[in-house]
Amino acid sequence: MSDDYMHKEYPKRFDRTSFWEQIKRTVNGKPVSEQDINMIVDQIKRSLKPRSSDNLLDLGCGNAALASYLFDCVDGYYGVDFSEYLIGVAREFFSNQQSTHYYCDDIVSFSNSFLNPEVIDKILIYGVISYLSKQEVEQLITTISERFCSCRRVFIGNVPSREYADAFFKRRAVEDYQLDDPKSAIGVWWTPEEFEEIGGCRGFDVEILTMPESFYGTGYRFDVLMTRSARGCD
Ligand SMILES: C[S@@+](CC[C@H](N)C(=O)[O-])C[C@H]1O[C@@H](n2cnc3c(N)ncnc32)[C@H](O)[C@@H]1O
Repeated sequence: MSDDYMHKEYPKRFDRTSFWEQIKRTVNGKPVSEQDINMIVDQIKRSLKPRSSDNLLDLGCGNAALASYLFDCVDGYYGVDFSEYLIGVAREFFSNQQSTHYYCDDIVSFSNSFLNPEVIDKILIYGVISYLSKQEVEQLITTISERFCSCRRVFIGNVPSREYADAFFKRRAVEDYQLDDPKSAIGVWWTPEEFEEIGGCRGFDVEILTMPESFYGTGYRFDVLMTRSARGCD
C-alpha cells in the first residue's frame, strides 16, 4: 500500500464526521472508546504539561480530533499534515480563527521551512513517527533541536515496540512482515534505546513511557518524552 493511499486516500472513504475511522483509531473497525481517548489525552497532558501561554505544534495532526482535547489548555495550536482531506476536516470542524493554524505539508519539510520556529513551546507527534524512515526521524529531531529553540518538551506517542513485533504478528497469524518499512500498515518498529540515543545526542533528556494496562494499544507500543536538557540550544 502506498503512503499516498494509506494516509491521503483511505480517510476519504469515511464520512467527514467519522473522525476516528479516518485516522484508523479503531478496534475491529469500530472507533476506540472515549475512555481510551481520555487515556491518550491524560498521557499527553502529563508529559507536555501544556500551559495557557503555550503554542503547541502538532506534527502529523490528522483531522485534529485528538488535538482538539488540548485546545483549552494552550494559547495557540499549529497542526501539520500532508493529507489535504484531513486538514480540510480539521479546518471545518476544529478551527478557531484566533488560535488554530493548519498547514498541509510533509512534517519533515515543514519543520525545516516553518518561518517562526521560535514561537513554539511544545511539540506533539502522535501516531505518526512510525511512518517516517529512521533517517527522517533523525533529521526531524535534529531540526527540532536546532531550529525550535523555545521548545522544551516533545511528546512522541504510540510508537510500535520492536520487542513485541514477533508476538504481535504471530497472534494474527501473519508470517511475512516488515519491521523497517514506513509504508507498511504499522510502519517502522522501534526500540526505546534508539530514541534514547537519537534524543540524547541532540540535547534532550529522554523518558520512555507506557500506557495503563486497560489501554487498547498496551503491550506493543510505547511513548517517548523528550525534554530539553538544561543546556538548551547552543
Ligand atoms: C494515525 S494518524 C494520527 C493523527 C493524529 N496525530 C492523531 O493521533 O489523532 C497518522 C497521520 O500522520 C500523517 N502523516 C504520516 N506521514 C506524514 C508525513 N511525512 N508528513 C505529514 N503527515 C504525515 C497522516 O496523514 C495521518 O494523518
